[in-house]
Amino acid sequence: MFYDFRDAVAEVIIDKEAIERRIQEMGEQISKEYAGKDLVFVGVLRGAVVFLADLIRKVSIPCEIDFIDVTSYGKDTKTSGIVRILKDISINVENRDVLVIEDVIDTGLTWHYLRENILAKKPASLKMCCLLDKPASRRIDIKPDYVGFVIPDNFVIGYGLDCQDYFRNIPFVGTPSDIAWDLSTEEDSI
Ligand code: IMP
Ligand code: MG
Repeated sequence: MFYDFRDAVAEVIIDKEAIERRIQEMGEQISKEYAGKDLVFVGVLRGAVVFLADLIRKVSIPCEIDFIDVTSYGKDTKTSGIVRILKDISINVENRDVLVIEDVIDTGLTWHYLRENILAKKPASLKMCCLLDKPASRRIDIKPDYVGFVIPDNFVIGYGLDCQDYFRNIPFVGTPSDIAWDLSTEEDSI
């Protein structure tokens, strides 16, 4: 079925320009704070791909990128609390400065699990950077080190964030419309 992303969003929460400005600031901050270090970005698939791609182009120091793929939800919108690694980091991060890139920290369960897993690989340092932070829905007391935007506990789509794996291509962050919910629950339709 055909859809246009303008029909999928009920309300724009963060527009393209605001995202671009904030990512520029974050890139500059990371470049300063990691100067002289051995920086490795680890993007959490698949939601962080868009953010990571834009962020690294605002970073002016040498760095490497890698990915980890985890699943915590199945197809629901709230975490099951069970996190499983589908693809681990490929490069050796021992004694290197790892900065994990997430689309959103919600309950904190994914980050808690990732933290334990990556610490076991003995990095020199480990920090977390997310585009969106929803502190109101935390189930574990953790704070990301770099946050793009703090948002309320509402489900959002776009800029990498999905609803049933769709709408990651929307270039801004917004709440899903009824059309988005309907389309994403119609199996094999788009
Ligand atoms: P946590 O384990 O509850 O912190 O969940 C983190 C993961 O949940 C993120 O990487 C997202 O994949 C997903 N998630 C949480 N909130 C949203 C949302 O509003 N839209 C889309 N995905 C979300
Ligand atoms: Mg995710």
